[in-house]
Amino acid sequence: VDEKRKMQTEKHLTGTLILSVFTAVLGFFQYGYSLGVINAPQKVIEAHYGRVLGIVPPDRHATNVSGEDGTEGTLPPPSDPATSPHILTMYWSLSVSVFAVGGMVSSFTVGWIGDRLGRVKAMLVVNVLSIAGNLLMGLAKFGPSHILIISGRAVTGLYCGLSSGLVPMYVSEVSPTALRGALGTLHQLAIVTGILISQVLGLDFLLGNDEMWPLLLGLSGVAALLQFFLLLLCPESPRYLYIKLGKVQEAKKSLKRLRGNCDPMKEIEEMEKEKQEAASEKKVSIRQLFTSSKYRQAVIVALMVQISQQFSGINAIFYYSTNIFERAGVDQPVYATIGVGVVNTVFTVISVFLVEKAGRRSLFLAGLMGMLVSAVAMTVGLVLLSQFAWMSYVSMVTIFLFVIFFEVGPGPIPWFIVAELFSQGPRPAAIAVAGFCNWACNFIVGMCFQYIADLCGPYVFAIFAGLLLLFFLFAYFKVPETKGKSFEEIAAVFRRKKLSAKAMTELQDLRRGEEA
Ligand code: GLC
Repeated sequence: VDEKRKMQTEKHLTGTLILSVFTAVLGFFQYGYSLGVINAPQKVIEAHYGRVLGIVPPDRHATNVSGEDGTEGTLPPPSDPATSPHILTMYWSLSVSVFAVGGMVSSFTVGWIGDRLGRVKAMLVVNVLSIAGNLLMGLAKFGPSHILIISGRAVTGLYCGLSSGLVPMYVSEVSPTALRGALGTLHQLAIVTGILISQVLGLDFLLGNDEMWPLLLGLSGVAALLQFFLLLLCPESPRYLYIKLGKVQEAKKSLKRLRGNCDPMKEIEEMEKEKQEAASEKKVSIRQLFTSSKYRQAVIVALMVQISQQFSGINAIFYYSTNIFERAGVDQPVYATIGVGVVNTVFTVISVFLVEKAGRRSLFLAGLMGMLVSAVAMTVGLVLLSQFAWMSYVSMVTIFLFVIFFEVGPGPIPWFIVAELFSQGPRPAAIAVAGFCNWACNFIVGMCFQYIADLCGPYVFAIFAGLLLLFFLFAYFKVPETKGKSFEEIAAVFRRKKLSAKAMTELQDLRRGEEA
C-alpha cells in the first residue's frame, strides 16, 4: 500500500505543473512550425523573390528547357549572372537553412543564459527574438523580402536554438521522476504539432498563396506572445533555486506549487544529494566536459543520440517528402506529406504513454531497428518502381513506417535524455553541446540531401540504412536505461561503467605481469 501511495504521489499532476510544462513546450511548437512552414509555400515565395529581384524563377526556365513549348534547349543562358535563376535558388536555400545556422549559434549559450537568469526568466527574455524574427517575416512584403525573410529566419533560429536547450532543462527539472519521460516526450509532441499545423496552413487555399504567405511565415509569433504572458504565471525550477542559488525556502515554495499537497521531503532529499554531488564536482565548462574522463561516457552517449536522431534521415523526409513522394509515383504528393504529418503526430502521442512503460533504451533500440528495416524496404520499393508500378505503394507505406518508428524512440528520447544523463554541475554545458550537435547535423542533412539524392537516385535511403545499423549497435552497447532513476543514480551508472572499465584494464595488466 505504501509503495502504491508513493507512486501516486510521485505521479501527481497538478494544474501548475501542467501549465508550466505546456508553457515551456510552446517554444518547441515554434521550432516545429518554423521547420515545416518553409516547405509548402516555396513556389509562391520564390516567384515573389523573382519579381523583387527581376529574375525568372527556375521553374519557368525548367518548363521552357524541358521543351513543353517545343523550344527544347533553345533558352539562352542568362547573360548576367546577377540575374540568373541560380541566384534565386541560392536565396531560397539560404532562407531555408539559415534557420539551422541560427539554432547552431545560439544553442551554445543556453547554459550561460539558463544559469544567469534562471530558467523562467531566460525563456521569457529569449521570446523577444522570436517576436522580432516573426515580425521581420510577417512584414516581408513591405521591404526587400529576400533580406527580411533570411534575417527573420536567422533570428527565429536563434530563438529556437535557445529554447531547444532551455525547455528540456526546465521541464526535466520541474517534473517528478516518475513522469519525467512522459512529460519529456511532450517536447516532441509540440514539435510535430507545429510541423503538422504549418503543413496544413501552407495549403494554397489557406495561407500558402501569393497574398497570405507573409502571415503564414510570421504566425508563430502568436505562440511567442502566448508563451511570454503564460511564463509570468510559472514557478521557477525548484532545482535551480535549491542547487544553483541555495534558496531553500523558495525552492520549497516552488515545489509546493508544482506538487500540490504531496510531501516534498523525498525530492528535497534528492536535490540535496545532487547539490552535494554538484558541490564536489564544481561548475563544469564545455571544455572540461570534453577533457574530464569522468564525463566521457555520458558525453559520447549524449552526442551519439543526437547524431542518430538527425542522421537517421528523418528530416530528409520532412524537408523533401513532397519531392520523394513524387519520385515514388504517388498521385497527390502534398496530401501524402500531410499524411506523414498526421501519422507523425499520432505516434508521438502513443510514445508519450509508452515511454514510462517500456523505458527509453528499449524504445530507442526498437525505433532504430524499425527505421532500418523500413529504409531497406523503401530502397527496394524505389529501385523496383520502374518494373512494378505497385511498388509505389510499398514506398509510400515504408515512408509512413519509417516515420512511425522514428516517433517510437529516436524522435522524442534525445530531447530529454541528455538532461537525465548529467547531474546539475555539467548539465547546462552538456545540453548546450548536444543542442549544437543536433542543429549541426540537421543543417548538414538539410543542405546535402538533395545533392546525395541526385547522385544515388533510388539508393539514397540505403545510406541511411547503413548509418542506422551503426547507431543501433552503438545504442545496444552503450546507452543505459534512465527510466525511473534519479539523476544521482544515473550518474552512478556511468561511474560504475568507468570503474568496471578501469578494473578490467588493471586486471589485464595484472595478468600480463603474471604471464611475464
Ligand atoms: C525531432 C527532430 C527534428 C525533426 C522532428 C520530426 O524533433 O529533432 O529535427 O524534424 O523530430 O518529427
